[in-house]
Amino acid sequence: MKSIYNKVEEFVKETYRRAGKEKTIPHFERTAYWVEQLRPDSDEALRVAAFSHDIERAIYGDWVQGSTDVDVLQKHGELSAEIIGGFLRTIDAEDSFISKVKMLVARHEFGGNDEQEILNEADCISYFETRAPIHATVWPDQGVPKAHVRKKFEFMYTRVKTKHAKEIVKPLFEKAIEKLESRYEAGS
Ligand SMILES: [Fe+2]
Ligand SMILES: [Fe+2]
Repeated sequence: MKSIYNKVEEFVKETYRRAGKEKTIPHFERTAYWVEQLRPDSDEALRVAAFSHDIERAIYGDWVQGSTDVDVLQKHGELSAEIIGGFLRTIDAEDSFISKVKMLVARHEFGGNDEQEILNEADCISYFETRAPIHATVWPDQGVPKAHVRKKFEFMYTRVKTKHAKEIVKPLFEKAIEKLESRYEAGS
């Protein structure tokens, strides 16, 4: 029998494929990977939250793209929590499990309690591995001002607070900034 995690993995991948956004899937694989690195005894709810934390973007589109606005990010977390909560109900997950996943996903852009913090930091590390290298080239090509891209990178970097995670994310952040700078130089 498939685990809840496997079912969620399939659901998220399928939803992103249907939206034509399969290129985003590695971000979820790496977020789940980093959750396990930062918290080797992470429970299934935390791993499910890691894989599904951005699910609303496959449904509602790119309205959050690049935003550092607190209200926008809060809404993004809440919408994702509702969608994954709805899916978990369809596979008869327990109420307490669903509540925990929703609590984690809703705050993934901010952290908070211990496990929300793990998810927040795993998301940021994964962002610099899987999304920032793309944003550092695609956004300049789309005419996004350099200061705006830089602000997003700095926002993602400062979301990481614990020492261990900071050590992991620092070189990735620096590489992203370097890539961004060279892109604008090339274009200027
Ligand atoms: Fe997110
Ligand atoms: Fe994310």
